[in-house]
Amino acid sequence: MSQPASPQEALLFWFAENQRDLPWRHEYHPYQVWISEIMLQQTQMDRVTIFFRRWMEEFPDLKTLAAASEHRVLKYWEGLGYYSRARNILKTAQILASEHQGTIPGDRKLLLSLPGIGPYTAGAIASIAYNRDVPVVDANIERILARLLNIDLVPGSPAAKKIFWSKAEELLPAGQARNFNQALMELGALVCRPKNPDCSACPLTLHCLSLKYDIIAERPVPKKSKKIIPIDMATGILIHQGLLYIQQRLADDVWGSLWEFPGGRMEKEETPEQTVVREFLEETEFEVRIESKITTTIHHYTRYRVTLHCFFVQLTQSDSDPVLHAAQDFRWVPFEALQEYAFPAGHRKLISFLEKAGFEI
Ligand code: ADE
Repeated sequence: MSQPASPQEALLFWFAENQRDLPWRHEYHPYQVWISEIMLQQTQMDRVTIFFRRWMEEFPDLKTLAAASEHRVLKYWEGLGYYSRARNILKTAQILASEHQGTIPGDRKLLLSLPGIGPYTAGAIASIAYNRDVPVVDANIERILARLLNIDLVPGSPAAKKIFWSKAEELLPAGQARNFNQALMELGALVCRPKNPDCSACPLTLHCLSLKYDIIAERPVPKKSKKIIPIDMATGILIHQGLLYIQQRLADDVWGSLWEFPGGRMEKEETPEQTVVREFLEETEFEVRIESKITTTIHHYTRYRVTLHCFFVQLTQSDSDPVLHAAQDFRWVPFEALQEYAFPAGHRKLISFLEKAGFEI
C-alpha cells in the first residue's frame, strides 16, 4: 500500500490502526489524562496501567482526591517511586478544587502554574484532554524528531530543546493535536524505539532523513552516559513484644513522609551491623543489638545503585519509647499492618522478602 502524502497524514493513519487500548483513551477525561501523564513521567506503561486502574477505583474524580489524606495518596502511589509526583498531585487537586471549581484547565499557561506540571505535561493535558493545538516534546518525541529531521544536537541542551519544541510545533496539524501528539508518543514506544527501531513497521520511512542517510543508529546524538554511583546502606527491624518499630521520615527529606525502619548510609570502615546500631542510637536513642541478618536488597534510584543490608535487632534497654531525631512520627505495628504504610523501594523489597519467606512473629 502506498504511504499517504504528508508525514502528518501517514502518522495519523498509522495511529488509528495501531494505538494501544489504554484506560484513559476511552473518554479522554481531563482528570484521567492528567493522572496518566504524571504516572507516565518516570514509569513504564505496563506498570502505569495497573496503578492507574487501582488509583481510579480509590480516587475516581478530582473532588475525591482533593479530600484524601496525604497518607492515603502516598500509599496508592507506592511502587511508582518519585513520590514528589504524588504530593504534587494532591496539592494540585486541592488548588483546583478550591480555585477552579474542581476542573482541570485546558490552558497551557494555567496548567504550567500548577505544582508538578512542566512544559511536557502541560502540553500533553492541553492537547490530549482538550485537543488544543499545543505541541509536546519528551525524550521519545525528541528521538523521533532527531531521526526524522536528522537533527544532530545532543538532546537536553537548551539549544536543542528550543529546536525540538519549534519542530514539534511546526509539524502539528491544526485541530488534530490529540491524535497527532499521542501518535508521536505511540510511535516512539512501539516502533521508533531507542534500540533496534523497527523501521519496516514505520509509517514515516518515506520522510525519514536518518533512514535515507543510513544514520539511524547515530540519531539522536548520544548523551555522555552518567556514572552509576554505588551506595551502601544498612537497616534494622526492631521487634519488641511482637510488634515492629517503624518511623515516618521528615516531610522535607528524601522520600519525605514515607515510613521506614531506622538505618542509613554506612560510614567509612563501618560494618553494616555497626551502622545499624549507630543509626538506631542517633535516630531514636534506642540501644539495640543485632540479632540476625535477614537479606541484602539492591535497587536503583536515579543515578544510584543502593545496596541495603537488612537485620533483625533487639532492644538492650527496657524503655520502648523513642526520642525522634530523624522522623516526624513512629508506630509499633504487627507485621501484617505494614501493608497500610508507604515505604521506599528498598524497605518494601525487604518486607516482600519476609512475606515470601513466610515470616511470622
Ligand atoms: N507516554 C506518555 N504519555 C503517553 C500517552 N498519553 N500515550 C502513550 N505514551 C505516553
